[in-house]
Amino acid sequence: MTDAHAAPRGVGVVVVAAGSGSRLGASLPKAFVPLAGRPLLGWALDALGQLPGVRSVAVVVPEGLVNTAHAAWAGVGLPDPAVVVAGGADRTASVAAGLAALDPGCDVVLVHDAARCLTPSAVFERVVAAVRAGADGVVPGLAVVDTVKTVDAGGFVTGTPDRAALRAVQTPQGFRRAVLDAAHASGLGATDDAALVEALGHRVLVVEGDPRAFKVTTADDLDRAERMLAADAP
Ligand code: C5P
Repeated sequence: MTDAHAAPRGVGVVVVAAGSGSRLGASLPKAFVPLAGRPLLGWALDALGQLPGVRSVAVVVPEGLVNTAHAAWAGVGLPDPAVVVAGGADRTASVAAGLAALDPGCDVVLVHDAARCLTPSAVFERVVAAVRAGADGVVPGLAVVDTVKTVDAGGFVTGTPDRAALRAVQTPQGFRRAVLDAAHASGLGATDDAALVEALGHRVLVVEGDPRAFKVTTADDLDRAERMLAADAP
């Protein structure tokens, strides 16, 4: 039996693709740089096609590329339903723009970097399942293989955190909608959304990430992604 008064449910996905990609040294914004003949953004959106329960997708791009008729969009398949909106000056502002454009009926929101363009759909599914199981926030993460130091402004070591307690986190990051809305309304800034949610005192769970969810930042990363796709080819 269905409850006519139950709040609508569904997964909303914000894909942030509005970065300039200056560290990649390309003439196009990073998400539109070709990887095996298609923009990174196209590869990133492929995973959503296989994700059950998606109700709304907001793709956040640079102001000049909001018109999907632009040649840079060739090879990008937009999921249905999707809206395309302009991003902001930093990642937090871009996520906020995407969040505002999502269908209000979504009770779970994922935020994904287009630059993590080869993230397997299984990672998305793990994150959604953990939010549905009750977590306020969920991030995929991998154990850290290097020893990590904290340093002061002069480069001197101030500490060596226990490596066993560290995780390198990826996207998609998933949240209960109300929690992420409140985190963005706080006016704080951070390099990921989980940090905003943590700052409000919520507990964030780390689930297993995937090496393929690495972020394309430099030309070497783009080569690595090209090699992965070539190895996948039948
Ligand atoms: O710069 P960084 O690699 O950390 O960016 C992570 C993701 O955030 C990328 O997918 C990038 O396109 C996106 N971003 C954005 N708007 C910005 C800056 C970054 O959508 N102003």
